[in-house]
Amino acid sequence: MSFYDVINLDNIPKHIGIIMDGNGRWAKSKNLPRSFGHKAGSDRVIDIVEASYELGVKSLSLYAFSTENWKRPRDEISKLMELIKYYIRTQLAKINKNNVRINVFGDIEPLPESVKKEILMAVEKTKNNDKMNLNICLNYGGQDEILRACKNISKDVFDGKITTEDINKEIFDSYLYSKGQDSLDLLIRPSGELRVSNFMLWQLAYAEFYFSNILWPDFTKEELYKAIYSYQNRDRRYGGL
Ligand code: FPP
Repeated sequence: MSFYDVINLDNIPKHIGIIMDGNGRWAKSKNLPRSFGHKAGSDRVIDIVEASYELGVKSLSLYAFSTENWKRPRDEISKLMELIKYYIRTQLAKINKNNVRINVFGDIEPLPESVKKEILMAVEKTKNNDKMNLNICLNYGGQDEILRACKNISKDVFDGKITTEDINKEIFDSYLYSKGQDSLDLLIRPSGELRVSNFMLWQLAYAEFYFSNILWPDFTKEELYKAIYSYQNRDRRYGGL
Protein backbone atom coordinates (compact mmCIF):
# COMPACT_ATOMS: atom_id res chain seq x y z
CA MET A 1 0.00 0.00 0.00
CA SER A 2 1.14 3.54 -0.71
CA PHE A 3 0.05 6.54 1.34
CA TYR A 4 -0.71 8.15 -2.01
CA ASP A 5 -3.79 5.89 -2.22
CA VAL A 6 -5.22 7.15 1.07
CA ILE A 7 -4.55 10.88 0.88
CA ASN A 8 -7.39 13.19 -0.02
CA LEU A 9 -6.42 15.07 -3.17
CA ASP A 10 -9.02 17.73 -2.35
CA ASN A 11 -7.28 18.64 0.90
CA ILE A 12 -3.64 19.06 -0.03
CA PRO A 13 -1.77 21.60 2.15
CA LYS A 14 -1.42 24.77 0.11
CA HIS A 15 1.98 25.68 1.54
CA ILE A 16 4.51 23.12 2.77
CA GLY A 17 7.80 24.09 4.41
CA ILE A 18 10.65 21.64 4.86
CA ILE A 19 13.70 21.89 7.10
CA MET A 20 15.90 19.48 5.16
CA ASP A 21 17.99 17.97 7.91
CA GLY A 22 20.16 14.92 8.45
CA ASN A 23 22.44 14.99 5.39
CA GLY A 24 25.58 14.86 7.54
CA ARG A 25 24.35 11.98 9.72
CA TRP A 26 23.24 10.05 6.63
CA ALA A 27 26.74 10.35 5.15
CA LYS A 28 28.38 9.47 8.46
CA SER A 29 26.26 6.32 8.79
CA LYS A 30 27.69 5.20 5.45
CA ASN A 31 31.27 6.28 6.22
CA LEU A 32 31.06 8.90 3.48
CA PRO A 33 32.13 12.57 3.52
CA ARG A 34 29.37 15.02 4.52
CA SER A 35 29.22 16.40 0.97
CA PHE A 36 27.86 13.02 -0.22
CA GLY A 37 24.98 13.52 2.19
CA HIS A 38 24.23 16.93 0.70
CA LYS A 39 24.36 15.45 -2.83
CA ALA A 40 21.91 12.70 -1.83
CA GLY A 41 19.80 15.43 -0.19
CA SER A 42 19.69 17.41 -3.41
CA ASP A 43 18.44 14.28 -5.23
CA ARG A 44 15.55 14.19 -2.76
CA VAL A 45 14.84 17.84 -3.57
CA ILE A 46 14.21 16.75 -7.16
CA ASP A 47 11.70 14.08 -6.03
CA ILE A 48 9.90 16.23 -3.48
CA VAL A 49 9.53 19.20 -5.83
CA GLU A 50 8.07 16.84 -8.43
CA ALA A 51 5.70 15.17 -5.96
CA SER A 52 4.57 18.59 -4.73
CA TYR A 53 3.51 19.98 -8.07
CA GLU A 54 1.98 16.65 -9.02
CA LEU A 55 -0.19 16.84 -5.89
CA GLY A 56 -1.19 20.45 -6.48
CA VAL A 57 0.76 22.06 -3.62
CA LYS A 58 0.74 25.83 -4.28
CA SER A 59 3.95 26.72 -2.41
CA LEU A 60 6.91 24.62 -1.33
CA SER A 61 9.54 26.32 0.84
CA LEU A 62 12.85 24.52 1.25
CA TYR A 63 15.40 25.53 3.89
CA ALA A 64 18.61 25.15 1.88
CA PHE A 65 21.02 27.44 3.76
CA SER A 66 20.36 29.37 6.95
CA THR A 67 21.86 32.64 8.17
CA GLU A 68 23.62 30.45 10.77
CA ASN A 69 25.08 27.94 8.25
CA TRP A 70 28.02 30.32 7.58
CA LYS A 71 29.52 28.85 10.77
CA ARG A 72 30.24 25.61 8.86
CA PRO A 73 33.68 24.81 7.39
CA ARG A 74 34.42 26.82 4.26
CA ASP A 75 34.76 23.70 2.13
CA GLU A 76 31.30 22.43 3.13
CA ILE A 77 29.77 25.83 2.37
CA SER A 78 31.32 25.98 -1.08
CA LYS A 79 30.21 22.42 -1.90
CA LEU A 80 26.67 23.29 -0.84
CA MET A 81 26.72 26.39 -3.04
CA GLU A 82 27.97 24.32 -5.99
CA LEU A 83 25.17 21.82 -5.42
CA ILE A 84 22.52 24.54 -5.44
CA LYS A 85 23.97 25.89 -8.68
CA TYR A 86 24.07 22.38 -10.14
CA TYR A 87 20.48 21.75 -9.09
CA ILE A 88 19.27 24.86 -10.89
CA ARG A 89 21.40 24.20 -13.95
CA THR A 90 20.12 20.65 -14.36
CA GLN A 91 16.51 21.11 -13.23
CA LEU A 92 15.52 24.53 -14.54
CA ALA A 93 14.17 23.36 -17.90
CA LYS A 94 11.95 20.73 -16.23
CA ILE A 95 10.83 23.13 -13.49
CA ASN A 96 9.96 25.75 -16.07
CA LYS A 97 8.13 23.25 -18.28
CA ASN A 98 6.03 22.27 -15.29
CA ASN A 99 5.00 25.88 -14.74
CA VAL A 100 6.81 26.20 -11.40
CA ARG A 101 8.05 29.60 -10.29
CA ILE A 102 11.38 29.78 -8.46
CA ASN A 103 11.67 32.39 -5.69
CA VAL A 104 14.58 33.04 -3.39
CA PHE A 105 13.89 33.85 0.25
CA GLY A 106 16.87 35.40 1.98
CA ASP A 107 19.69 37.81 1.30
CA ILE A 108 21.68 36.35 -1.57
CA GLU A 109 24.09 39.30 -1.72
CA PRO A 110 26.93 37.49 0.18
CA LEU A 111 26.64 34.36 -2.02
CA PRO A 112 29.33 33.61 -4.62
CA GLU A 113 28.81 35.58 -7.85
CA SER A 114 28.27 32.50 -10.04
CA VAL A 115 25.60 31.10 -7.68
CA LYS A 116 23.84 34.45 -7.52
CA LYS A 117 23.85 34.70 -11.30
CA GLU A 118 22.36 31.22 -11.74
CA ILE A 119 19.63 31.88 -9.17
CA LEU A 120 18.66 35.29 -10.51
CA MET A 121 18.45 33.87 -14.01
CA ALA A 122 16.15 31.07 -12.76
CA VAL A 123 13.97 33.57 -10.88
CA GLU A 124 13.70 35.75 -14.00
CA LYS A 125 13.01 32.83 -16.34
CA THR A 126 10.21 31.39 -14.20
CA LYS A 127 8.63 34.62 -12.96
CA ASN A 128 5.40 34.19 -14.95
CA ASN A 129 4.82 30.55 -13.94
CA ASP A 130 1.83 29.99 -11.70
CA LYS A 131 1.34 26.31 -10.90
CA MET A 132 3.55 26.25 -7.81
CA ASN A 133 6.00 28.50 -6.01
CA LEU A 134 9.28 26.82 -5.23
CA ASN A 135 10.78 29.02 -2.53
CA ILE A 136 14.46 28.28 -2.03
CA CYS A 137 15.47 29.68 1.34
CA LEU A 138 19.10 30.72 1.02
CA ASN A 139 20.99 32.70 3.62
CA TYR A 140 17.56 32.82 5.18
CA GLY A 141 16.52 33.34 8.79
CA GLY A 142 13.00 33.90 10.09
CA GLN A 143 14.11 36.61 12.52
CA ASP A 144 16.04 38.33 9.74
CA GLU A 145 12.97 38.29 7.52
CA ILE A 146 10.82 39.87 10.25
CA LEU A 147 13.45 42.56 10.97
CA ARG A 148 13.76 43.31 7.26
CA ALA A 149 9.97 43.73 7.05
CA CYS A 150 10.00 46.06 10.10
CA LYS A 151 12.74 48.21 8.58
CA ASN A 152 10.93 48.50 5.25
CA ILE A 153 7.63 49.30 6.96
CA SER A 154 9.36 52.03 9.01
CA LYS A 155 10.82 53.52 5.82
CA ASP A 156 7.42 53.53 4.13
CA VAL A 157 5.81 55.17 7.17
CA PHE A 158 8.58 57.77 7.19
CA ASP A 159 8.09 58.40 3.45
CA GLY A 160 4.33 58.75 4.00
CA LYS A 161 3.45 55.71 1.83
CA ILE A 162 1.54 54.11 4.71
CA THR A 163 0.53 55.24 8.20
CA THR A 164 1.20 53.44 11.47
CA GLU A 165 -2.55 52.80 11.71
CA ASP A 166 -2.49 50.99 8.35
CA ILE A 167 -0.19 48.27 9.74
CA ASN A 168 -2.10 45.04 10.18
CA LYS A 169 -1.45 41.36 9.47
CA GLU A 170 -2.11 41.69 5.73
CA ILE A 171 0.20 44.69 5.39
CA PHE A 172 2.90 42.93 7.39
CA ASP A 173 2.53 39.81 5.19
CA SER A 174 3.13 41.97 2.14
CA TYR A 175 6.59 42.97 3.42
CA LEU A 176 7.77 39.37 3.77
CA TYR A 177 9.57 37.28 1.16
CA SER A 178 6.41 35.16 1.02
CA LYS A 179 4.29 38.13 -0.09
CA GLY A 180 1.13 36.98 -1.87
CA GLN A 181 1.52 33.35 -0.80
CA ASP A 182 -0.45 31.36 1.78
CA SER A 183 0.85 30.91 5.32
CA LEU A 184 2.46 27.56 6.07
CA ASP A 185 -0.05 24.72 6.43
CA LEU A 186 2.47 21.99 7.05
CA LEU A 187 6.01 22.17 8.42
CA ILE A 188 8.08 19.03 7.93
CA ARG A 189 11.33 18.34 9.75
CA PRO A 190 13.02 15.01 9.20
CA SER A 191 16.02 13.60 11.10
CA GLY A 192 14.52 13.43 14.58
CA GLU A 193 15.27 17.03 15.61
CA LEU A 194 12.33 18.75 17.30
CA ARG A 195 13.18 22.38 16.59
CA VAL A 196 12.05 25.19 14.32
CA SER A 197 15.59 26.58 13.83
CA ASN A 198 14.60 30.09 12.77
CA PHE A 199 12.50 28.90 9.81
CA MET A 200 9.51 30.95 8.64
CA LEU A 201 8.64 32.11 12.14
CA TRP A 202 5.83 34.42 11.06
CA GLN A 203 4.33 32.11 8.44
CA LEU A 204 4.14 29.03 10.68
CA ALA A 205 1.70 30.59 13.17
CA TYR A 206 -0.97 27.95 12.45
CA ALA A 207 1.12 25.31 10.69
CA GLU A 208 0.79 21.66 11.56
CA PHE A 209 4.17 20.16 12.49
CA TYR A 210 5.34 16.82 11.16
CA PHE A 211 8.53 15.40 12.64
CA SER A 212 10.09 12.21 11.34
CA ASN A 213 13.19 10.21 12.25
CA ILE A 214 13.98 9.61 8.58
CA LEU A 215 17.10 11.48 7.46
CA TRP A 216 16.55 13.91 4.58
CA PRO A 217 18.49 11.85 1.98
CA ASP A 218 16.01 9.02 2.68
CA PHE A 219 12.94 11.26 2.51
CA THR A 220 11.23 9.83 -0.56
CA LYS A 221 7.94 10.84 -2.19
CA GLU A 222 6.30 8.15 -0.03
CA GLU A 223 7.48 9.98 3.11
CA LEU A 224 5.86 13.15 1.78
CA TYR A 225 2.58 11.32 1.17
CA LYS A 226 2.79 9.99 4.74
CA ALA A 227 3.32 13.52 6.10
CA ILE A 228 0.33 14.78 4.11
CA TYR A 229 -1.79 11.88 5.35
CA SER A 230 -0.86 12.80 8.93
CA TYR A 231 -1.72 16.46 8.20
CA GLN A 232 -5.12 15.47 6.83
CA ASN A 233 -5.94 13.66 10.03
CA ARG A 234 -5.39 16.69 12.26
CA ASP A 235 -8.17 18.86 13.60
CA ARG A 236 -7.22 22.42 12.61
CA ARG A 237 -9.13 24.85 14.80
CA TYR A 238 -7.16 28.10 14.43
CA GLY A 239 -7.93 28.96 18.05
CA GLY A 240 -11.66 28.16 17.66
CA LEU A 241 -13.56 25.19 19.05
C1 FPP B 1 21.08 20.04 6.96
O1 FPP B 1 21.72 18.80 7.14
C2 FPP B 1 21.10 20.39 5.56
C3 FPP B 1 21.64 21.53 5.05
C4 FPP B 1 22.29 22.56 5.88
C5 FPP B 1 21.66 21.79 3.60
C6 FPP B 1 20.45 21.40 2.83
C7 FPP B 1 20.82 21.32 1.39
C8 FPP B 1 20.45 20.37 0.52
C9 FPP B 1 19.47 19.33 0.85
C10 FPP B 1 21.01 20.27 -0.85
C11 FPP B 1 20.95 21.42 -1.76
C12 FPP B 1 19.68 22.19 -1.82
C13 FPP B 1 18.96 22.44 -2.94
C14 FPP B 1 17.78 23.34 -2.88
C15 FPP B 1 19.26 21.82 -4.24
P1 FPP B 1 23.00 18.73 8.08
O2 FPP B 1 24.19 18.88 7.25
O3 FPP B 1 22.87 19.73 9.17
O4 FPP B 1 22.87 17.27 8.65
P2 FPP B 1 23.34 16.77 10.08
O5 FPP B 1 22.50 17.48 11.11
O6 FPP B 1 23.04 15.32 10.02
O7 FPP B 1 24.80 17.07 10.21
